[in-house]
Amino acid sequence: MCGIIGYSGHRPAVPVCMEGLRRLEYRGYDSAGVAFPNRGGLTVIKEPGKLGMLEQALEKAGNVLGATSALAHTRWATHGVPNQVNAHPHTDASGKLAMVHNGIIENFAELKQELAHKGVTFQTETDTEVLVKLVGEYRKECATMREALSRALTRAEGAYAVVLVSADHPGRLWAARKQSPLVLGVGVGENFLASDVPAFLPYTREVVFIDDGEMVIIDADRWQILDVATLAPKEKEVKTITWDVQSAQKGGYKHFMLKEIFEQPKVIRDCLAGRIGQRTQSVKLPELEGLPLPGRLVIVACGTSYYAGLWGKYVIEKLARVPVDVAIASEFRYADPILSEGEQVLVVSQSGETADTLAGLRLAKEQGIPVIGLCNVVGSSVARESDHVLYTQAGPEISVASTKAMCSQMVMLLLLALSYAARKGVLDEEESGALVRGLQEMPGLLEESLPAMRESAKALARMYAEADSFLYLGRGACYPLALEGALKLKEISYIHAEGYAAGEMKHGPIALIDPRFPTFAIALADDLFGKVRSNLIEVKARGGKIIALTNPGVELEIDHPWFLPKVAGPLGAFTVLPAVQLFAYEIADYLGKDVDQPRNLAKSVTVE
Ligand code: M6R
Repeated sequence: MCGIIGYSGHRPAVPVCMEGLRRLEYRGYDSAGVAFPNRGGLTVIKEPGKLGMLEQALEKAGNVLGATSALAHTRWATHGVPNQVNAHPHTDASGKLAMVHNGIIENFAELKQELAHKGVTFQTETDTEVLVKLVGEYRKECATMREALSRALTRAEGAYAVVLVSADHPGRLWAARKQSPLVLGVGVGENFLASDVPAFLPYTREVVFIDDGEMVIIDADRWQILDVATLAPKEKEVKTITWDVQSAQKGGYKHFMLKEIFEQPKVIRDCLAGRIGQRTQSVKLPELEGLPLPGRLVIVACGTSYYAGLWGKYVIEKLARVPVDVAIASEFRYADPILSEGEQVLVVSQSGETADTLAGLRLAKEQGIPVIGLCNVVGSSVARESDHVLYTQAGPEISVASTKAMCSQMVMLLLLALSYAARKGVLDEEESGALVRGLQEMPGLLEESLPAMRESAKALARMYAEADSFLYLGRGACYPLALEGALKLKEISYIHAEGYAAGEMKHGPIALIDPRFPTFAIALADDLFGKVRSNLIEVKARGGKIIALTNPGVELEIDHPWFLPKVAGPLGAFTVLPAVQLFAYEIADYLGKDVDQPRNLAKSVTVE
């Protein structure tokens, strides 16, 4: 979703902000803009399209290097089409205040009407223009900007992270947050505000995570945090980010997505680090200390994280016999879910900022249900609001299409299953030890197999890139991977793909099968292999072409068997996952699509 960067300090502010926007590009956007104080007024430059357009406009404008404070924004359109007028920053009636905003002001229509009655006119269709104009109106009545901002925000319903600059106070920025991410970067003689840490990581690793209901005011050499409603000062801890700038760069790969797929061996190692007892090979999850075994675990998530949750259900129920339900967060939050004492909610989110997932988390907490957050981004809202946090340690995931995050979520879910199983005493030590060893060996196995997997993916991609539609089939624990394979393909190549439980195919989708409608199957040599093979024979009989991920030594008469190394039980998922990711990647790259920033998508979906 929208990306925000604000800067005050000793460097030329506009280039710092532009560089920050580049590092936030992965969030997804359709227009961009920048504002900075300039000779007693404000300069606002904005353009539809990619950042290159804004850069050209800045070059044309010239004279942008003098500003030492600025704010900038990449917009992912919600209210109003993505054009120059609706791009941020927006200004108040005086033209002396400019605002950037991530979120949705739900009561913007009422506020707009109220302002219109006072004679305020509007140039855009956005909710943000309404908010900045409301601040501008209050500014006439209030002694300070902070009061004006506080009054306006107290009236705003919905979600926001906002940053404001004023021509009357060059060098100062005001910001606030409610349900949209905002982080303060603390530098030496400079301070930063951003939607996400990578925006300012080359300059500082010292950060303060802003919470809902907080306002932050920065100058070059000081920062201050206040309560939005009361304006009372607040003490906040400065935290140090441990990952480095390189982790958020492409490192020689053509795309972030490819780099992140190839990082999965490291991700598995990092997830396991410190979690396996050296002698006993027992799983250690100290984060869950004091938490009893759940009577039922309800997993709540969106998108790829939801599919990881579905996979988690298979392994937790199979290995630990703990009942698990999995809910799509946007459904769960409005379903009036029945949650009972003794149950627990596990929210799964890479970003930790997904609006629907957070709503699910809050709903569970309101009902007194303990919440475990399984998330990647340290200090994110999920991490801060959950009762217990399991970090996935995947490092920054920049590509909009999630890849290594799912791998890390699956590792953690398998560890959770093994730890529940050990506590219940339902899994014999030999089986549990074999799975732990298998997990420990997985990084090496993947490092060996990934280059060949990529070659297979590339060859198949060339053969199938012209298809209009794909059916992805899997059964049991491979069914969620079929869903994920279909999601990856459609989101980056824009080829329609549907994931289906293989056994369900004959209840409808089989009608679609013909020689132009290929099937991508997951047919590992496991307990369900015979069943999947029968399903594929049915596809074949109708002239359907088939690619199948399988293991050496099986008998499968299909067009393109794609052999993966054979590993035990649920571990097969860790070989299937990169294969479906690479297939989608190679098709999208072959078709010349914008792999890392697919159209219409945002990395972190911070609005409903
Ligand atoms: O940050 P989260 O894990 O909460 O994000 C959930 C989904 O928005 C995300 O997985 C989305 O589906 C990705 N585009 C998948 O590649």
